[in-house]
Amino acid sequence: MVDLDIDFVRAQFPAFRHPLSAEWIHLENAGGSYVPAQVIDILHEFYISSKVQPYGPAGPAKAAGEAMDRGIELVPATFNCGSDELSLGPSTSQNTYVAANALRALMNNGDHVVVTDQDHEANIGAWRRLSETGIFIDEWKVDPETGLLSVDDLEELLTERTKLVCVTHASNLAATVNPIAAIAKLAHAAGALLAVDGVSYAPHSSIDVKTLDCDIYMYSMYKTFGPHVGAMFVRGELLDQLANQGHYFNSADRTKRLTPAGPNHAEVAAAAGVVDYYDAIHTHHGLAAGSPNERIAAVFELFGAQEATVMAPLMNYLNQADVRLVGSPSVDHNVRAPTIAFVPDGATPETVVGHLATRGIGVGHGDFYAKRLVDAMGIGAAGVVRVSMVHYNTATEIERCIEALAEVL
Ligand SMILES: Cc1ncc(COP(=O)(O)O)c(C=O)c1O
Repeated sequence: MVDLDIDFVRAQFPAFRHPLSAEWIHLENAGGSYVPAQVIDILHEFYISSKVQPYGPAGPAKAAGEAMDRGIELVPATFNCGSDELSLGPSTSQNTYVAANALRALMNNGDHVVVTDQDHEANIGAWRRLSETGIFIDEWKVDPETGLLSVDDLEELLTERTKLVCVTHASNLAATVNPIAAIAKLAHAAGALLAVDGVSYAPHSSIDVKTLDCDIYMYSMYKTFGPHVGAMFVRGELLDQLANQGHYFNSADRTKRLTPAGPNHAEVAAAAGVVDYYDAIHTHHGLAAGSPNERIAAVFELFGAQEATVMAPLMNYLNQADVRLVGSPSVDHNVRAPTIAFVPDGATPETVVGHLATRGIGVGHGDFYAKRLVDAMGIGAAGVVRVSMVHYNTATEIERCIEALAEVL
């Protein structure tokens, strides 16, 4: 396998040339990634030339509709799903909220939904609210020491009354990959559907909903180098069955059933730029031909190898430092994403983050809306420090981060 050409990668991102961000080491990518020129150019062009009611017969209105259609046509390759199985909403939190309302119609009073305490609240709270409408919520709990889920525990929760299992592909704090295909098998054997939050997984690995065999899969494009759009796959036949949440006269259009409001036109158009960026990486590295999803998978092989190399020294450092790590201590990219959350022994998370900021390094602290996980692990209100990288981060940046951590820990 060729190595990722990191200079080429960074050349795609104007942030690395801007006076404010060029010298800044961005290690809070799990909160939102930088955006390549492929995305910015579409957004910029849309706002200049086509910021009108889209889908008119000519001129800017025609161009706007065509630009949006391009986003709607290209993004499904990131899931390996049909273009009528994709809903583009404002965020993953709002997508789960809408999906929960839509799925309620398929459940009877007394049915059960499984949620974890490892997930971001986006994939817990909306489902838990179904308890206000006669649904029982079963909690799939983490190991309080490690923050990890065990599939054996899920098996014990599943009954013929379980209608839905909701789980993260990789938590935004524990970052450890959950075995989604195996979970899907268990859920389906019990007659339940599976809804997966891929927000913290999608920036690091490619997704194939057919192989995963999940019914719902969601991720946020602003964390995968794109605009602020929540992308949600719902299996086509399921989309037809659940209660329409859009305008009644649009109910036959699968892509509108879970988008109650009009979409953000410019950002739907700019979502195409994410796939254009993956394509640019594919072409530059001369990767093998394949289906659109296979091409993206080949790109993510390169991203993953780069992330694994860059993550290892930081994981190795933290594994012997005076910190409590959340999730697996593994350096294997197949086991964990390079989102590393820890509780420092000798300093507050806020102090650590403040110190790194003085060294030009951006990391975050708190619970990152995974409050139930932080509470389950008995971590106090100050939360964790989170260092999160993606493929454009360099070994030198991580070296500087380790140096700065060593000064404060
Ligand atoms: C794992 C995870 N799931 C869901 C969300 C919510 O995504 P959004 O901001 O698009 O609602 C986040 C946001 O940080 C997240 O990290």
